[in-house]
Amino acid sequence: MSTSKAQISLDTNRTIAPISPWLFGGFVEHMGRCVYEGIYDPKSPLADERGLRIDVLDALREQSYTVMRYPGGNFLSGYNWLDGVGPKEKRPRRRELAWQSIETNQFGTNEFMEFCRAIGVEPMLAVNMGTGTIQSAADLVEYCNAPTGTCWADLRAAHGHPDPYNVKIWCVGNEMDGPWQIGHLDMHEYGKKALEAAKMMKWQDPSIKTVLCGSSNNRMATYPEWDRVSLETCWEHVDYHSIHYYAGNHDGDTASYLAIARELEDYVDTMAATLRYVKAKRRSRHDVYLSWDEWQVWYKGDPLQGNWTEAPHLAEETYNLEDALVVAQWLNVFLRKSAVLKIGCVAQVVNIISWLQTKRDGLLKQTSFYPFKLASNHARGEALDVQVSAPVVETKKYGPVPVLDVAASYDLETGIGAVFIVNRSQTDAVVTELIWQAEVPHSVPQVYQLAGNDAKAANTWENPNLITAQPIEAPKLTDGKTTLQLPPLSYTVLTTQAHRGESRS
Ligand code: AHR
Repeated sequence: MSTSKAQISLDTNRTIAPISPWLFGGFVEHMGRCVYEGIYDPKSPLADERGLRIDVLDALREQSYTVMRYPGGNFLSGYNWLDGVGPKEKRPRRRELAWQSIETNQFGTNEFMEFCRAIGVEPMLAVNMGTGTIQSAADLVEYCNAPTGTCWADLRAAHGHPDPYNVKIWCVGNEMDGPWQIGHLDMHEYGKKALEAAKMMKWQDPSIKTVLCGSSNNRMATYPEWDRVSLETCWEHVDYHSIHYYAGNHDGDTASYLAIARELEDYVDTMAATLRYVKAKRRSRHDVYLSWDEWQVWYKGDPLQGNWTEAPHLAEETYNLEDALVVAQWLNVFLRKSAVLKIGCVAQVVNIISWLQTKRDGLLKQTSFYPFKLASNHARGEALDVQVSAPVVETKKYGPVPVLDVAASYDLETGIGAVFIVNRSQTDAVVTELIWQAEVPHSVPQVYQLAGNDAKAANTWENPNLITAQPIEAPKLTDGKTTLQLPPLSYTVLTTQAHRGESRS
């Protein structure tokens, strides 16, 4: 192993933006074993009296999720929310067309609310813009948010929930640009339908925030025109614009895969420019932010059709060390783009394309569980604009890319800071000097590191702790400087403490 040198400069006055707490969200879809056998499994010895899996709830709490999107996904576009409420024995069994599975509807809106309360997250509901009407969308807002005294709110009360849920965030459809979507629309049709739906939903409850469907990824033939047109149509009635993206090492090119932050940032920049353009064109004072409400590594090719069975094993990915380092970079991108990116939802939280896998009596935490846990627990306050001076690694896809991918946060109120560093080199350790140029911390309370020699190493049921984040010895801090040795293929999170409440110079 050879060694190179780098320098990271931090200045707590050089900020990007406040970090939205909603960046650390998740996504639960009625797909495969995410709901059934994932979060809800009444037959499991590990379920509580509500049928929720205690071990899964604990793991989700450990990851400090803040917001949870539900119920889809492609599932959403064929879903009638009325199927999932009321007495369970009366709920219909349906052939579910998006994933060709059997949907029992034993879990629905009210069970989801209970789940959100159990883990302390904000619910983010989505309304069906495929087979659903603008009326059914507005009715669901009434069911969830209106005080009793009218039809749908009274139905909620009759189902045992007299108090409104006051759901704040509402997605107006899912991936409506995709021909795979049930009831897919073109950009003009979707813009018009989303506008009318958002208007009715906000008339039901003016306090809600709506999320427009953006492009399903940056390879869509309609990208970014879809985004411009739908935003121009709906601008004043929506608050967030969604983007989705799934990453993978499709060509077996680890160097490029480990530089994916380049592409992710480019994607956000294009969307941010589109938002600015539309705002200017509309002569608007209103702002729309980005909601990256589906993101994850997904490429290993598990089946996607359920053969008309209940809770089939679909898209249950195995995640290795390089996948975890991609997730770590993605979260760094979230911090670096925190001026425009306000919601993030990893797809999905358990079993389906997830770093958590269940079996009836056990739970496996895969490699990428740990970067999310570290970032969601330590990124607080404002994102800092760090300066990095580092050697480069050559990549086929993106050319030369700095060997370190870095983000940082600082919370002025508590004086707690955090630095998040990926060493994307497969061969070189990087001796890295960190220099604080302002609000010099007095200590480094914690350093955690996830690392390994083999980019393909993964945790298994037999060897579940092969790749985890471990606390390592904190380096000495002298005159605002410290030095860390960052092994190749590693993610390191270092926390700092400055004097509480120190004011900015
Ligand atoms: O998260 C899995 C699927 O990926 C979602 O249902 C869909 O929105 C996306 O294509």
